[in-house]
Amino acid sequence: MTLTIDRPEAPAGPPKLDGHRLRTAQRETLDSPRMEYGLLAKMMFKPVDLLYGREGSYTKFAMLEIIARVPYQAWERMGYWALHRHHGRSALARRVFDRIVEARADQDNEQWHLLIMQDLVQRNGDRQNWLLHRLAPWFIAFFYYHVSWVLFLVRPELSYRLNAEFEDHAEHEYMTYVAEHPELEFQPDPGTYAAEYGRYASVADLLRQIGHDERVHKLDSLENVSAPRFHQVRL
Ligand SMILES: [Fe+2]
Ligand SMILES: [Fe+2]
Repeated sequence: MTLTIDRPEAPAGPPKLDGHRLRTAQRETLDSPRMEYGLLAKMMFKPVDLLYGREGSYTKFAMLEIIARVPYQAWERMGYWALHRHHGRSALARRVFDRIVEARADQDNEQWHLLIMQDLVQRNGDRQNWLLHRLAPWFIAFFYYHVSWVLFLVRPELSYRLNAEFEDHAEHEYMTYVAEHPELEFQPDPGTYAAEYGRYASVADLLRQIGHDERVHKLDSLENVSAPRFHQVRL
């Protein structure tokens, strides 16, 4: 006999916007100031600017996307640790698991960003080398991962705040890059990952969509800043 269980759907991720809403979202980002970045965020942004240049580029964005998923991995790991600790309290364990599912969905979203960026790097014929585009991202990701889980253990709100700053930075970088490259409006979206990520009218809209995803990630993290511990999460 086969038992059928109704399972809640995995989170769909940030909403996909049409062209008009994407342009509105870009204006909103460009009209709003960046967050006040703390020391740890600056410790990541400075070397990235030094190594990859202050200006946005597909290779720089690919590098940022490699490290973008790291805090979500760290939170997923901490979630399983908390689940193990609280498995005797089913309501709390369920809330912890909900956060794990959310962290996994955000990792997937960041993974699509990375794949899209790598695709654009290749189509653009940009050069990547082992030192700058393999080793350096690994080092920064290693640093970020350990900072994320240690902060989460000690003061989880600081871990969420750090990610919110990282996402705010990414949102502004994408939206600014599109504003500074009007030619992207006339480049069709290659649609390499259209089945998974959607198809857009132009590369400009594709990048605006990614920028908007980063805003959603930022807002989610800021929401978690106000209820950082698992037992504070509302049912
Ligand atoms: Fe991203
Ligand atoms: Fe993000």
